[in-house]
Amino acid sequence: MSRGTATDLVYLVAIVGFILALKGLSSPKHARAGNLAGAVGMLLAVGWTFSLPSVHGDSGDLILMLVAMAIGIAIAIPAARLVKMTAMPQMVAIFNGVGGGAAALVSVTEFIALPSKTIAVYKIVEVLFGVLVGSVSLSGSAIAFAKLQEIMTGRPITYPAQQVVNAVVGAGVLGLAVATLVTASTPLLVILLALSLVLGVIFVLPIGGADVPVLISLLNSFTGLAVAASGFTLNSDLLIVAGTLVGASGMLLTRMMSQAMGRSLPNILFSAFGSVVTASGSEVSGDRSVRSGTPDDIGVLLAYARKVAIVPGYGLAVAQAQHTARELAEALADRGVEVYYAIHPVAGRMPGHMNVLLAEANVPYDQLKEMDEANPEMQTTDVALVVGANDVVNPAAKNSPGSPIYGMPIINVEQAGNVVFLKRSMRPGFAGIDNDLLYDPKTTLLFGDAKESLSKLVSAVASA
Ligand code: TAP
Repeated sequence: MSRGTATDLVYLVAIVGFILALKGLSSPKHARAGNLAGAVGMLLAVGWTFSLPSVHGDSGDLILMLVAMAIGIAIAIPAARLVKMTAMPQMVAIFNGVGGGAAALVSVTEFIALPSKTIAVYKIVEVLFGVLVGSVSLSGSAIAFAKLQEIMTGRPITYPAQQVVNAVVGAGVLGLAVATLVTASTPLLVILLALSLVLGVIFVLPIGGADVPVLISLLNSFTGLAVAASGFTLNSDLLIVAGTLVGASGMLLTRMMSQAMGRSLPNILFSAFGSVVTASGSEVSGDRSVRSGTPDDIGVLLAYARKVAIVPGYGLAVAQAQHTARELAEALADRGVEVYYAIHPVAGRMPGHMNVLLAEANVPYDQLKEMDEANPEMQTTDVALVVGANDVVNPAAKNSPGSPIYGMPIINVEQAGNVVFLKRSMRPGFAGIDNDLLYDPKTTLLFGDAKESLSKLVSAVASA
Protein backbone atom coordinates (compact mmCIF):
# COMPACT_ATOMS: atom_id res chain seq x y z
CA MET A 1 0.00 0.00 0.00
CA SER A 2 1.40 3.42 -0.92
CA ARG A 3 1.91 6.04 1.77
CA GLY A 4 -0.78 8.21 0.15
CA THR A 5 -3.37 5.40 0.35
CA ALA A 6 -2.37 4.62 3.94
CA THR A 7 -2.80 8.30 4.82
CA ASP A 8 -6.26 8.40 3.24
CA LEU A 9 -7.20 5.25 5.14
CA VAL A 10 -5.98 6.56 8.50
CA TYR A 11 -7.80 9.86 7.95
CA LEU A 12 -10.96 7.96 7.02
CA VAL A 13 -10.78 6.03 10.30
CA ALA A 14 -10.23 9.31 12.17
CA ILE A 15 -13.26 10.84 10.42
CA VAL A 16 -15.40 7.84 11.41
CA GLY A 17 -14.18 8.42 14.99
CA PHE A 18 -15.39 12.05 14.85
CA ILE A 19 -18.80 11.01 13.53
CA LEU A 20 -19.16 8.30 16.19
CA ALA A 21 -18.19 10.92 18.79
CA LEU A 22 -21.06 13.18 17.74
CA LYS A 23 -23.47 10.26 17.75
CA GLY A 24 -22.30 9.08 21.19
CA LEU A 25 -22.40 12.56 22.71
CA SER A 26 -26.09 12.91 21.84
CA SER A 27 -27.10 10.67 24.76
CA PRO A 28 -25.78 10.58 28.35
CA LYS A 29 -25.56 6.77 28.16
CA HIS A 30 -23.02 6.78 25.32
CA ALA A 31 -21.36 10.15 25.91
CA ARG A 32 -18.15 8.73 27.43
CA ALA A 33 -17.73 6.19 24.62
CA GLY A 34 -18.40 8.96 22.08
CA ASN A 35 -15.81 11.20 23.69
CA LEU A 36 -13.29 8.36 23.57
CA ALA A 37 -14.02 7.67 19.88
CA GLY A 38 -13.40 11.35 19.08
CA ALA A 39 -10.18 11.45 21.12
CA VAL A 40 -8.83 8.29 19.46
CA GLY A 41 -9.71 9.73 16.03
CA MET A 42 -7.89 12.96 16.88
CA LEU A 43 -4.83 11.11 18.23
CA LEU A 44 -4.67 9.01 15.05
CA ALA A 45 -5.00 12.09 12.84
CA VAL A 46 -2.35 14.14 14.67
CA GLY A 47 0.04 11.18 15.15
CA TRP A 48 -0.13 10.11 11.50
CA THR A 49 0.23 13.67 10.23
CA PHE A 50 3.43 14.04 12.23
CA SER A 51 4.84 10.86 10.67
CA LEU A 52 4.51 12.32 7.16
CA PRO A 53 7.83 13.37 5.55
CA SER A 54 6.22 16.62 4.37
CA VAL A 55 5.71 17.55 8.02
CA HIS A 56 8.86 16.29 9.74
CA GLY A 57 11.14 16.96 6.74
CA ASP A 58 12.23 20.34 8.02
CA SER A 59 13.47 19.75 11.57
CA GLY A 60 13.29 23.47 12.47
CA ASP A 61 9.55 23.54 11.80
CA LEU A 62 9.06 20.29 13.67
CA ILE A 63 10.69 21.68 16.80
CA LEU A 64 8.54 24.82 16.61
CA MET A 65 5.42 22.67 16.23
CA LEU A 66 6.35 20.47 19.17
CA VAL A 67 7.03 23.53 21.35
CA ALA A 68 3.66 25.03 20.35
CA MET A 69 1.93 21.73 21.15
CA ALA A 70 3.69 21.44 24.51
CA ILE A 71 2.55 24.98 25.44
CA GLY A 72 -1.01 24.17 24.34
CA ILE A 73 -1.07 20.94 26.35
CA ALA A 74 0.41 22.66 29.43
CA ILE A 75 -2.41 25.22 29.34
CA ALA A 76 -5.27 22.97 28.25
CA ILE A 77 -4.94 20.05 30.67
CA PRO A 78 -5.05 22.05 33.94
CA ALA A 79 -7.69 24.40 32.45
CA ALA A 80 -9.95 21.49 31.52
CA ARG A 81 -9.42 19.68 34.84
CA LEU A 82 -9.88 22.71 37.08
CA VAL A 83 -12.71 24.51 35.30
CA LYS A 84 -15.99 24.65 37.20
CA MET A 85 -18.92 23.18 35.33
CA THR A 86 -20.67 26.59 35.46
CA ALA A 87 -17.67 28.17 33.73
CA MET A 88 -17.70 25.70 30.81
CA PRO A 89 -19.36 28.10 28.33
CA GLN A 90 -16.54 30.64 28.65
CA MET A 91 -13.93 27.90 28.36
CA VAL A 92 -15.58 26.62 25.21
CA ALA A 93 -15.62 30.24 23.96
CA ILE A 94 -11.92 30.86 24.45
CA PHE A 95 -10.76 27.46 23.13
CA ASN A 96 -13.06 27.86 20.14
CA GLY A 97 -11.75 31.37 19.47
CA VAL A 98 -8.18 30.11 19.42
CA GLY A 99 -9.25 27.51 16.82
CA GLY A 100 -10.71 30.27 14.64
CA GLY A 101 -7.52 32.31 14.98
CA ALA A 102 -5.41 29.28 14.03
CA ALA A 103 -7.55 28.69 10.92
CA ALA A 104 -7.13 32.36 9.92
CA LEU A 105 -3.34 32.15 10.38
CA VAL A 106 -3.12 28.93 8.35
CA SER A 107 -4.98 30.66 5.53
CA VAL A 108 -2.64 33.68 5.64
CA THR A 109 0.58 31.61 5.67
CA GLU A 110 -0.64 29.40 2.82
CA PHE A 111 -1.52 32.53 0.85
CA ILE A 112 1.97 33.97 1.40
CA ALA A 113 3.56 30.64 0.40
CA LEU A 114 1.70 30.49 -2.93
CA PRO A 115 3.47 31.99 -5.95
CA SER A 116 1.20 34.98 -6.66
CA LYS A 117 1.02 34.72 -10.44
CA THR A 118 -0.47 31.25 -10.40
CA ILE A 119 -3.03 31.75 -7.66
CA ALA A 120 -6.40 30.50 -8.85
CA VAL A 121 -9.45 32.59 -7.91
CA TYR A 122 -11.03 29.75 -5.94
CA LYS A 123 -7.85 29.45 -3.84
CA ILE A 124 -8.04 33.12 -2.90
CA VAL A 125 -11.74 32.75 -2.06
CA GLU A 126 -10.90 29.87 0.31
CA VAL A 127 -8.18 31.96 1.94
CA LEU A 128 -10.44 35.01 2.26
CA PHE A 129 -13.19 32.94 3.85
CA GLY A 130 -10.77 31.36 6.35
CA VAL A 131 -9.25 34.73 7.29
CA LEU A 132 -12.56 36.59 7.61
CA VAL A 133 -14.57 33.97 9.48
CA GLY A 134 -11.64 32.74 11.60
CA SER A 135 -10.76 36.28 12.74
CA VAL A 136 -14.37 37.19 13.56
CA SER A 137 -14.56 33.98 15.58
CA LEU A 138 -11.31 34.76 17.44
CA SER A 139 -12.11 38.32 18.53
CA GLY A 140 -15.84 37.64 19.01
CA SER A 141 -15.08 34.63 21.23
CA ALA A 142 -12.58 36.68 23.25
CA ILE A 143 -15.29 39.28 24.01
CA ALA A 144 -17.85 36.54 24.78
CA PHE A 145 -15.30 35.01 27.18
CA ALA A 146 -14.73 38.40 28.88
CA LYS A 147 -18.50 38.88 29.27
CA LEU A 148 -19.14 35.47 30.82
CA GLN A 149 -16.03 35.65 33.00
CA GLU A 150 -17.31 39.05 34.20
CA ILE A 151 -14.07 40.76 33.14
CA MET A 152 -16.44 43.22 31.46
CA THR A 153 -20.19 43.80 31.81
CA GLY A 154 -22.27 40.85 30.65
CA ARG A 155 -25.08 43.16 29.49
CA PRO A 156 -25.40 44.30 25.87
CA ILE A 157 -23.20 47.32 25.14
CA THR A 158 -24.98 49.80 22.90
CA TYR A 159 -24.08 53.30 21.70
CA PRO A 160 -25.60 55.82 19.26
CA ALA A 161 -25.32 54.95 15.56
CA GLN A 162 -24.08 51.48 16.46
CA GLN A 163 -25.85 49.86 13.50
CA VAL A 164 -24.28 52.43 11.17
CA VAL A 165 -20.77 51.75 12.56
CA ASN A 166 -21.33 47.99 12.21
CA ALA A 167 -22.59 48.40 8.65
CA VAL A 168 -19.61 50.59 7.68
CA VAL A 169 -17.09 48.12 9.12
CA GLY A 170 -18.97 45.20 7.49
CA ALA A 171 -18.92 46.99 4.14
CA GLY A 172 -15.21 47.76 4.63
CA VAL A 173 -14.48 44.07 5.22
CA LEU A 174 -16.39 43.08 2.08
CA GLY A 175 -14.67 45.79 0.03
CA LEU A 176 -11.24 44.67 1.23
CA ALA A 177 -12.11 41.05 0.45
CA VAL A 178 -13.03 41.99 -3.13
CA ALA A 179 -9.87 44.12 -3.49
CA THR A 180 -7.71 41.22 -2.23
CA LEU A 181 -9.46 38.86 -4.64
CA VAL A 182 -8.67 41.14 -7.57
CA THR A 183 -5.09 42.07 -6.63
CA ALA A 184 -3.95 38.94 -4.69
CA SER A 185 -2.11 41.42 -2.45
CA THR A 186 -0.67 40.17 0.85
CA PRO A 187 -0.73 43.60 2.60
CA LEU A 188 -4.46 43.91 1.77
CA LEU A 189 -5.04 40.43 3.20
CA VAL A 190 -3.34 41.46 6.45
CA ILE A 191 -5.50 44.61 6.65
CA LEU A 192 -8.54 42.41 6.04
CA LEU A 193 -7.48 40.21 8.94
CA ALA A 194 -7.18 43.25 11.24
CA LEU A 195 -10.55 44.70 10.18
CA SER A 196 -12.22 41.29 10.59
CA LEU A 197 -10.93 41.23 14.18
CA VAL A 198 -12.61 44.62 14.72
CA LEU A 199 -15.80 43.28 13.12
CA GLY A 200 -15.81 40.34 15.58
CA VAL A 201 -15.63 42.75 18.53
CA ILE A 202 -18.35 45.13 17.40
CA PHE A 203 -20.60 42.25 16.32
CA VAL A 204 -20.51 40.75 19.83
CA LEU A 205 -20.64 43.93 21.98
CA PRO A 206 -24.44 44.44 21.69
CA ILE A 207 -25.17 40.80 22.56
CA GLY A 208 -25.43 40.08 26.26
CA GLY A 209 -27.07 38.27 29.14
CA ALA A 210 -28.79 34.99 28.36
CA ASP A 211 -27.96 35.34 24.65
CA VAL A 212 -24.20 34.89 25.08
CA PRO A 213 -24.27 31.05 25.22
CA VAL A 214 -26.19 31.03 21.91
CA LEU A 215 -23.62 33.40 20.44
CA ILE A 216 -20.81 31.09 21.55
CA SER A 217 -22.46 28.18 19.80
CA LEU A 218 -22.71 30.31 16.63
CA LEU A 219 -19.05 31.35 16.84
CA ASN A 220 -18.17 27.70 17.37
CA SER A 221 -19.90 26.95 14.11
CA PHE A 222 -17.96 29.82 12.43
CA THR A 223 -14.69 28.28 13.60
CA GLY A 224 -15.70 24.96 12.06
CA LEU A 225 -16.40 26.66 8.73
CA ALA A 226 -13.05 28.53 8.88
CA VAL A 227 -11.27 25.23 9.56
CA ALA A 228 -13.08 23.63 6.61
CA ALA A 229 -11.92 26.55 4.43
CA SER A 230 -8.31 26.03 5.52
CA GLY A 231 -8.82 22.33 4.75
CA PHE A 232 -9.57 23.32 1.13
CA THR A 233 -6.50 25.57 1.10
CA LEU A 234 -4.28 22.77 2.42
CA ASN A 235 -5.99 20.06 0.32
CA SER A 236 -6.78 18.17 3.51
CA ASP A 237 -9.94 16.04 3.41
CA LEU A 238 -9.59 15.48 7.13
CA LEU A 239 -9.80 19.19 7.96
CA ILE A 240 -12.64 19.70 5.50
CA VAL A 241 -14.74 16.97 7.13
CA ALA A 242 -13.81 17.86 10.73
CA GLY A 243 -14.50 21.56 10.11
CA THR A 244 -17.81 20.84 8.38
CA LEU A 245 -18.92 18.60 11.25
CA VAL A 246 -18.17 21.37 13.76
CA GLY A 247 -19.80 23.99 11.51
CA ALA A 248 -22.97 21.96 10.95
CA SER A 249 -23.38 20.75 14.52
CA GLY A 250 -22.72 24.26 15.89
CA MET A 251 -25.37 25.66 13.55
CA LEU A 252 -27.91 22.99 14.58
CA LEU A 253 -27.19 23.60 18.27
CA THR A 254 -27.58 27.36 17.78
CA ARG A 255 -30.95 26.76 16.15
CA MET A 256 -32.12 24.40 18.88
CA MET A 257 -31.09 26.84 21.62
CA SER A 258 -32.86 29.76 19.90
CA GLN A 259 -36.00 27.64 19.53
CA ALA A 260 -35.87 26.57 23.19
CA MET A 261 -35.70 30.27 24.14
CA GLY A 262 -38.62 31.04 21.79
CA ARG A 263 -36.53 33.54 19.81
CA SER A 264 -35.27 33.80 16.27
CA LEU A 265 -31.52 33.92 15.65
CA PRO A 266 -31.61 37.42 14.08
CA ASN A 267 -33.55 38.62 17.14
CA ILE A 268 -30.86 37.17 19.44
CA LEU A 269 -28.02 38.68 17.41
CA PHE A 270 -29.37 42.11 16.60
CA SER A 271 -31.95 43.16 19.21
CA ALA A 272 -29.60 43.98 22.17
CA PHE A 273 -32.00 41.91 24.32
CA GLY A 274 -31.55 42.30 28.06
CA SER A 275 -29.94 45.75 27.92
CA VAL A 276 -32.73 46.85 30.25
CA VAL A 277 -33.04 45.09 33.59
CA THR A 278 -36.71 45.07 34.55
CA ALA A 279 -36.38 43.42 37.94
CA SER A 280 -35.93 45.34 41.15
CA GLY A 281 -33.60 42.75 42.65
CA SER A 282 -34.65 43.92 46.10
CA GLU A 283 -35.88 41.56 48.79
CA VAL A 284 -39.49 42.31 47.91
CA SER A 285 -40.60 44.06 44.76
CA GLY A 286 -42.81 47.12 45.43
CA ASP A 287 -45.48 46.51 48.06
CA ARG A 288 -45.94 42.87 47.14
CA SER A 289 -45.03 40.33 49.75
CA VAL A 290 -43.76 36.81 49.46
CA ARG A 291 -44.30 33.82 51.71
CA SER A 292 -41.15 32.26 53.04
CA GLY A 293 -41.29 28.90 54.78
CA THR A 294 -39.13 26.92 57.18
CA PRO A 295 -37.42 23.68 56.16
CA ASP A 296 -39.71 21.81 58.58
CA ASP A 297 -42.91 23.18 56.99
CA ILE A 298 -41.70 22.37 53.52
CA GLY A 299 -40.39 18.96 54.64
CA VAL A 300 -43.92 18.05 55.81
CA LEU A 301 -45.42 19.35 52.56
CA LEU A 302 -43.05 17.15 50.55
CA ALA A 303 -43.24 14.07 52.77
CA TYR A 304 -47.04 13.92 52.56
CA ALA A 305 -47.27 14.66 48.84
CA ARG A 306 -48.17 11.98 46.29
CA LYS A 307 -46.16 13.38 43.43
CA VAL A 308 -43.21 15.82 43.53
CA ALA A 309 -41.41 17.45 40.59
CA ILE A 310 -37.87 18.70 41.13
CA VAL A 311 -37.13 21.50 38.65
CA PRO A 312 -33.39 22.22 38.57
CA GLY A 313 -31.80 25.39 37.18
CA TYR A 314 -28.59 27.36 37.15
CA GLY A 315 -28.59 27.78 40.97
CA LEU A 316 -28.40 23.99 41.40
CA ALA A 317 -25.22 24.04 39.33
CA VAL A 318 -23.76 26.99 41.29
CA ALA A 319 -24.47 25.29 44.60
CA GLN A 320 -23.30 21.89 43.29
CA ALA A 321 -26.49 20.56 44.85
CA GLN A 322 -27.11 17.66 42.47
CA HIS A 323 -26.07 14.95 44.97
CA THR A 324 -28.23 16.46 47.74
CA ALA A 325 -31.16 16.72 45.31
CA ARG A 326 -30.83 13.00 44.61
CA GLU A 327 -30.69 12.29 48.38
CA LEU A 328 -33.93 14.21 48.87
CA ALA A 329 -35.55 12.37 45.94
CA GLU A 330 -34.49 9.04 47.47
CA ALA A 331 -35.77 10.02 50.92
CA LEU A 332 -39.13 10.91 49.37
CA ALA A 333 -39.24 7.76 47.23
CA ASP A 334 -38.59 5.69 50.38
CA ARG A 335 -41.78 7.17 51.80
CA GLY A 336 -43.71 6.19 48.67
CA VAL A 337 -43.72 9.65 47.03
CA GLU A 338 -43.46 9.61 43.24
CA VAL A 339 -40.57 11.90 42.26
CA TYR A 340 -39.42 13.10 38.85
CA TYR A 341 -37.06 15.78 37.58
CA ALA A 342 -38.46 18.25 35.03
CA ILE A 343 -35.67 19.43 32.73
CA HIS A 344 -35.93 22.57 30.62
CA PRO A 345 -33.72 22.52 27.49
CA VAL A 346 -32.00 25.81 28.40
CA ALA A 347 -31.92 25.43 32.19
CA GLY A 348 -28.45 26.35 33.42
CA ARG A 349 -25.96 27.90 31.07
CA MET A 350 -25.22 25.29 28.43
CA PRO A 351 -27.09 22.61 26.52
CA GLY A 352 -27.64 19.47 28.57
CA HIS A 353 -26.26 21.22 31.70
CA MET A 354 -28.85 19.71 34.06
CA ASN A 355 -28.69 16.25 32.45
CA VAL A 356 -24.91 16.16 32.95
CA LEU A 357 -25.13 17.28 36.59
CA LEU A 358 -27.87 14.80 37.46
CA ALA A 359 -26.12 11.97 35.63
CA GLU A 360 -22.99 12.77 37.67
CA ALA A 361 -25.10 12.33 40.80
CA ASN A 362 -26.33 8.94 39.49
CA VAL A 363 -29.94 10.03 39.17
CA PRO A 364 -31.71 7.23 37.23
CA TYR A 365 -32.45 8.31 33.62
CA ASP A 366 -36.07 7.20 33.89
CA GLN A 367 -36.69 9.89 36.52
CA LEU A 368 -35.62 12.66 34.11
CA LYS A 369 -38.46 14.13 32.10
CA GLU A 370 -37.77 16.64 29.35
CA MET A 371 -40.04 19.71 29.28
CA ASP A 372 -42.58 18.32 26.79
CA GLU A 373 -42.94 15.14 28.82
CA ALA A 374 -43.01 16.92 32.19
CA ASN A 375 -45.55 19.64 31.42
CA PRO A 376 -48.60 17.33 31.01
CA GLU A 377 -47.75 15.90 34.47
CA MET A 378 -47.75 19.28 36.25
CA GLN A 379 -51.52 19.43 36.86
CA THR A 380 -51.34 16.16 38.80
CA THR A 381 -48.17 17.15 40.67
CA ASP A 382 -48.63 18.16 44.31
CA VAL A 383 -45.38 20.05 44.80
CA ALA A 384 -43.04 21.57 42.21
CA LEU A 385 -39.69 22.10 43.97
CA VAL A 386 -37.80 24.69 41.95
CA VAL A 387 -34.11 24.39 42.80
CA GLY A 388 -32.16 27.45 41.63
CA ALA A 389 -34.27 27.92 38.50
CA ASN A 390 -36.07 31.14 37.61
CA ASP A 391 -36.41 32.17 33.94
CA VAL A 392 -37.33 28.65 32.81
CA VAL A 393 -40.40 28.64 35.09
CA ASN A 394 -41.36 32.31 34.69
CA PRO A 395 -45.02 32.54 33.51
CA ALA A 396 -44.24 35.98 32.00
CA ALA A 397 -43.06 33.94 29.02
CA LYS A 398 -46.73 33.01 28.46
CA ASN A 399 -48.67 35.91 29.96
CA SER A 400 -46.77 39.14 29.28
CA PRO A 401 -46.50 40.00 25.59
CA GLY A 402 -44.12 42.88 26.47
CA SER A 403 -41.69 40.66 28.37
CA PRO A 404 -38.30 39.97 26.81
CA ILE A 405 -38.83 36.24 27.37
CA TYR A 406 -42.36 36.25 25.91
CA GLY A 407 -42.74 33.18 23.68
CA MET A 408 -40.15 31.03 25.42
CA PRO A 409 -41.63 27.63 26.31
CA ILE A 410 -41.42 27.10 30.09
CA ILE A 411 -41.93 24.33 32.62
CA ASN A 412 -45.49 24.98 33.80
CA VAL A 413 -44.80 24.74 37.53
CA GLU A 414 -47.61 27.21 38.24
CA GLN A 415 -50.03 24.38 37.39
CA ALA A 416 -48.77 22.23 40.28
CA GLY A 417 -50.68 22.23 43.58
CA ASN A 418 -47.85 23.99 45.43
CA VAL A 419 -44.67 25.66 44.27
CA VAL A 420 -41.53 25.85 46.40
CA PHE A 421 -38.57 27.96 45.29
CA LEU A 422 -35.10 27.35 46.72
CA LYS A 423 -33.03 30.49 46.08
CA ARG A 424 -30.90 32.90 48.04
CA SER A 425 -32.71 36.20 47.49
CA MET A 426 -35.30 37.91 45.31
CA ARG A 427 -32.71 38.56 42.61
CA PRO A 428 -33.85 37.74 39.08
CA GLY A 429 -32.46 35.05 36.79
CA PHE A 430 -30.19 35.44 33.77
CA ALA A 431 -32.76 37.39 31.74
CA GLY A 432 -32.92 40.05 34.49
CA ILE A 433 -36.71 40.11 34.85
CA ASP A 434 -39.11 39.72 37.77
CA ASN A 435 -41.00 36.48 38.24
CA ASP A 436 -44.61 36.99 39.40
CA LEU A 437 -44.81 33.36 40.46
CA LEU A 438 -42.60 34.21 43.46
CA TYR A 439 -45.48 36.34 44.79
CA ASP A 440 -48.24 33.81 44.03
CA PRO A 441 -50.26 32.61 47.06
CA LYS A 442 -49.44 28.98 46.22
CA THR A 443 -45.69 29.70 46.31
CA THR A 444 -43.40 29.26 49.30
CA LEU A 445 -39.77 30.40 49.30
CA LEU A 446 -36.94 28.79 51.20
CA PHE A 447 -34.12 31.30 51.15
CA GLY A 448 -30.53 30.07 51.19
CA ASP A 449 -27.94 28.23 49.18
CA ALA A 450 -29.62 25.38 47.31
CA LYS A 451 -27.33 22.68 48.71
CA GLU A 452 -27.82 23.77 52.31
CA SER A 453 -31.58 24.11 51.84
CA LEU A 454 -31.82 20.66 50.29
CA SER A 455 -29.82 19.14 53.18
CA LYS A 456 -32.22 20.73 55.64
CA LEU A 457 -35.13 19.32 53.64
CA VAL A 458 -33.61 15.81 53.71
CA SER A 459 -33.50 16.00 57.54
CA ALA A 460 -36.97 17.52 57.70
CA VAL A 461 -38.45 14.77 55.51
CA ALA A 462 -36.76 12.11 57.66
CA SER A 463 -38.37 13.47 60.81
CA ALA A 464 -41.77 14.33 59.29
P1 TAP B 1 -31.81 31.60 35.98
O1 TAP B 1 -33.05 32.15 35.39
O2 TAP B 1 -30.53 32.25 35.63
O3 TAP B 1 -32.03 31.61 37.57
C1 TAP B 1 -31.09 31.05 38.41
C2 TAP B 1 -31.59 31.24 39.83
O4 TAP B 1 -30.72 30.51 40.67
C3 TAP B 1 -31.58 32.68 40.25
O5 TAP B 1 -32.90 33.06 40.54
C4 TAP B 1 -30.71 32.69 41.51
O6 TAP B 1 -31.38 33.43 42.50
C5 TAP B 1 -30.61 31.23 41.88
N1 TAP B 1 -29.32 30.86 42.45
C6 TAP B 1 -28.10 31.21 42.07
N2 TAP B 1 -27.18 30.66 42.85
C7 TAP B 1 -27.84 29.93 43.79
C8 TAP B 1 -27.44 29.13 44.88
N3 TAP B 1 -26.16 28.94 45.21
N4 TAP B 1 -28.41 28.52 45.61
C9 TAP B 1 -29.72 28.70 45.32
N5 TAP B 1 -30.14 29.44 44.29
C10 TAP B 1 -29.21 30.06 43.54
O7 TAP B 1 -31.62 30.06 35.65
P2 TAP B 1 -32.52 29.08 34.81
O8 TAP B 1 -33.94 29.11 35.30
O9 TAP B 1 -31.78 27.78 34.82
O10 TAP B 1 -32.55 29.71 33.37
C11 TAP B 1 -31.42 29.67 32.51
C12 TAP B 1 -31.24 30.99 31.82
O11 TAP B 1 -30.07 30.92 31.00
C13 TAP B 1 -32.40 31.33 30.90
O12 TAP B 1 -32.58 32.72 30.86
C14 TAP B 1 -31.91 30.81 29.57
O13 TAP B 1 -32.53 31.45 28.47
C15 TAP B 1 -30.45 31.20 29.67
N6 TAP B 1 -29.66 30.46 28.68
C16 TAP B 1 -29.40 29.16 28.87
C17 TAP B 1 -28.76 28.45 27.89
C18 TAP B 1 -28.55 27.01 28.05
S1 TAP B 1 -28.18 26.19 26.74
N7 TAP B 1 -28.71 26.42 29.20
C19 TAP B 1 -28.35 29.09 26.72
C20 TAP B 1 -28.62 30.44 26.56
C21 TAP B 1 -29.28 31.11 27.57
P3 TAP B 1 -30.59 34.02 43.76
O14 TAP B 1 -29.49 34.85 43.22
O15 TAP B 1 -31.63 34.80 44.50
O16 TAP B 1 -30.10 32.86 44.56
